[in-house]
Amino acid sequence: MTGIHVAVIMDGNGRWATARSRPREWGHRRGAEAVRRIVTAAPDLGIRTLTLYAFSSDNWQRPATEVSVLMRLFSRYLRSEAAELKESGVRLQVVGRRDRLAPGLVRDVERAERETVGGERLLLRLAVDYSSRDLLLRAVQAAAGASDLERQDMASLLGRAMHGEGPAPDVDLLIRTGGERRLSDFLLWECAYAELLFTPVMWPDYSAEHLADAIRDFRSRDRRFGNVAAAS
Ligand code: FPP
Repeated sequence: MTGIHVAVIMDGNGRWATARSRPREWGHRRGAEAVRRIVTAAPDLGIRTLTLYAFSSDNWQRPATEVSVLMRLFSRYLRSEAAELKESGVRLQVVGRRDRLAPGLVRDVERAERETVGGERLLLRLAVDYSSRDLLLRAVQAAAGASDLERQDMASLLGRAMHGEGPAPDVDLLIRTGGERRLSDFLLWECAYAELLFTPVMWPDYSAEHLADAIRDFRSRDRRFGNVAAAS
């Protein structure tokens, strides 16, 4: 089945909550609901792979309470959603480092991955303890001495370094919510020719309609990959 790869930097949870005089963690909880909405909507919009930035390696620097709320949210999501994801043909994978995650979370990750392994409608990749630069470094270390390395080899090394299935897939569309315009160490190799879309909508407010609009915008763009426009 063909379809596009959409990656999302789900930003704005903290500010969304602060604007409502609530703790930042409340924004993350509402952010988890937005994840459910977007995952449900994605397959019918022609999205075949969806990569969500759930926790960057730099996010370990956040206050311990916020980190532990996020880790609990990930565990809860994996445990409560796996059956439904399987039912709707979604295969789940967690990409990033695993050696710094709590053993209980790693078990939840592995169980959810096993349970959803047959899903063919959508590949949902949650990036947790993810740093694109660290992965590039590890891929280069794994290839040390290989002078004939090609692009596809690099994608395979990256895929392996992040516990992914097969080579790291190129991103077609990168969406960042929350109004900032940066990549924040996310999918740097895979975004080489990604279309970028920045929206001021805060992640907890992001809806299926916002995603549909983003896909419409993406489909109206002229992607040339460094070539010239095809003659009509
Ligand atoms: C960035 O917003 C968001 C995060 C660091 C965490 C993303 C997590 C979720 C969307 C919820 C849980 C996800 C799953 C998969 C169940 P921010 O806190 O940096 O927001 P701010 O820029 O407003 O401070």
